[in-house]
Amino acid sequence: MYSDTLNLLDKIESSRSLSLEEYKELIEGYSAHVAEYAAEKARRIRNKVYGNKVFIRGLIEISNICRNDCLYCGIRRSNANCDRYRLTKQQIIDCCREGYSLGFRTFVLQGGEDPCFSVKTVCEIVKEIKTLFPDCAVTLSLGEYSKEDYSAMYDAGADRYLLRHETADKDHYGKLHPEKMSFENRMRCLYDLKDIGFQTGCGFMVGSPYQTSQTLAKDLKFIETFAPEMCGIGPFISHKDTPFHDKQSGTAEMTCYLLSIIRIMHPNILLPSTTALGTVDPLGRELGIKAGANVLMPNLSPGNVRKKYMLYDNKICTGDESAQCRKCLDARMKSIGYEVVVDRGDFKKQ
Ligand code: 5AD
Ligand code: FES
Repeated sequence: MYSDTLNLLDKIESSRSLSLEEYKELIEGYSAHVAEYAAEKARRIRNKVYGNKVFIRGLIEISNICRNDCLYCGIRRSNANCDRYRLTKQQIIDCCREGYSLGFRTFVLQGGEDPCFSVKTVCEIVKEIKTLFPDCAVTLSLGEYSKEDYSAMYDAGADRYLLRHETADKDHYGKLHPEKMSFENRMRCLYDLKDIGFQTGCGFMVGSPYQTSQTLAKDLKFIETFAPEMCGIGPFISHKDTPFHDKQSGTAEMTCYLLSIIRIMHPNILLPSTTALGTVDPLGRELGIKAGANVLMPNLSPGNVRKKYMLYDNKICTGDESAQCRKCLDARMKSIGYEVVVDRGDFKKQ
């Protein structure tokens, strides 16, 4: 029934908490009408905290070399068709310099779990970026390390860390990852990051293989209780050279509905409208913002490596210059009444 689901949306707004069973009902109660109700509520809540401003983060894909073998991911170790690269410190700094001139005040260093990016190397790079661009935030998205290593990165000046939990259901986690990876370690990392003081981001793929309304309910419950400063969600998109090559992709509609729910639950959260969302629908990023997201993370990687960081098929913006994407996003946001701002875009505490 419509009205039951709408009541649940009202209930998250007022109590910021639902039971697992209620989250499941909320997911199963999806319809276009319910989603529009959720989006209107999410927009109103987002506008109250962040106005019509959209934060941008310059994403620098520093390496596609990865020791892991996640079944969904195009840069998994077993993919022999992946043309591997690793940026030098100088190349990373050059990307930041270009980004700075384009108005970026956050740089996100993302990569596979490349053993060459030891904690020592990561710290050196972070320190150099913070010295050259003291008014910028540095976000790391480099996978799993020990608590000691994360602490060193924080002490080197890193402000934020993104590590998607991928799924909050242990069995589901096991179906998406090789045996060597563990759900417990993933969670350990996230709690360590938060404890250290990072603005911490978790997240998951919408429509990943074996996902159910039950596993999604657990994702929402985890996001409710973990209360991350950021949350990255985007549709799963199959990659031709992975075991999931013939699995169905997630939809823009369900992704936007979940974005709205997360916004309603955590009014201040930093919520990106992802590149994957822009890949499943040409207007996906606009839809994400209209559903309550407030962050965009365009690519700042050097042109010659962009096609090599293919987590999934048909990724957008791999043929574009950073400056082009920056202009494009300005225009896209303007077209829906939002404005990209030059700002670190920190989490606003309540
Ligand atoms: N489709 C969509 N998202 C993906 N990611 C990895 N592979 C895919 C895919 N095939 C996401 C994961 C990871 C983030 C960097 O990209 O959630 O955490
Ligand atoms: Fe890259 Fe539009 S954002 S071309």
